[in-house]
Amino acid sequence: MSVRRLAEPALQPADFAFTEANAAWAEQTIGKYPPGRQQSAVIPLLMRAQEQEGWVSRAAIEHVADMLDMPYIRVLEVATFYTQYQLNPVGTRAHVQVCGTTPCMLRGAGELMDVCRSRIHPEPFHTNEAGTLSWEEVECQGTCVNAPMVMIFKDTYEDLTPEILETIIDAFEAGKGADVTPGPQNGRFNSAPATGFTTLTNEAVILGPVSERDTRAQAGEPALPPSKAGRPKTDASETSPQLKTPSPVKASPAGETAASVGEPGFNEKAANLAEPSVEAEVKQRRRKSADTGVVEAKSPELLRGEPIGPDSKRLAGEKRAPKGEPSPDARKPTGRKR
Ligand code: FES
Repeated sequence: MSVRRLAEPALQPADFAFTEANAAWAEQTIGKYPPGRQQSAVIPLLMRAQEQEGWVSRAAIEHVADMLDMPYIRVLEVATFYTQYQLNPVGTRAHVQVCGTTPCMLRGAGELMDVCRSRIHPEPFHTNEAGTLSWEEVECQGTCVNAPMVMIFKDTYEDLTPEILETIIDAFEAGKGADVTPGPQNGRFNSAPATGFTTLTNEAVILGPVSERDTRAQAGEPALPPSKAGRPKTDASETSPQLKTPSPVKASPAGETAASVGEPGFNEKAANLAEPSVEAEVKQRRRKSADTGVVEAKSPELLRGEPIGPDSKRLAGEKRAPKGEPSPDARKPTGRKR
């Protein structure tokens, strides 16, 4: 965990003021918030102060606090909490933020930091002798697919090699940073595959007619009739297209009565009966045991004279062993010698 403190008193400017344009922008930004919520503008105002001066000084923090009618400590808390705020002077021409998160490290961010150490300063957050350049290691900046990368001000420079980074640093050092085109530095477009497109290479497929209907129309072929998929065929009277609800014809009370079906009376015997086919099946599968007289279920296999299960030897009609005695199978010799 890094400890974030304000810069040494010797480095602090005596005062701070927004430029005229920035002051107008700040007033407009504060006005965006509802009455009583103006303090919500603290983050954008601090950021604008940093963009103006390059870093956030104590004087800038106090100035923003005065504008928002906040205690100094509250603005100090914000400035020291978020690492986006630079609390020490940075290079006047470039502050190079090198991404040191895993994808960039795997793609050579370590070598980019070596370049910063040799070209700017051995330690991060220190400026070079001329005070024009500084650097730091930061977390992922969101262009991992074009790793490794650095951010300078608000622009990202991606697909870097140590040599390309040196060229970029030279350009900023010479005050020509605006001449460097941000984004991928290896010629690829955005995050397109580094070896060129491998899919969707035929523009006609992407931009040309894609639907079968368009293709047939271009070829002068007759259009296909609309599909009937998803339209269930039914003869149910409820779904008849002739039916219109509510019916415009009012039924007479006599007609209503005639069309009504009375509630069937309760028949206990009928209520306890299943469908005739089910009843017949149940009767067929029940028989009285010859030995016990107990009604027991008989499986369809036994009824057909087939063995029950792959290992069973018992067939239809074969006697069951009397209760308490081993089954006929168990009495058979196993062929094992003692
Ligand atoms: S890991 Fe470097 S930009 Fe995401």
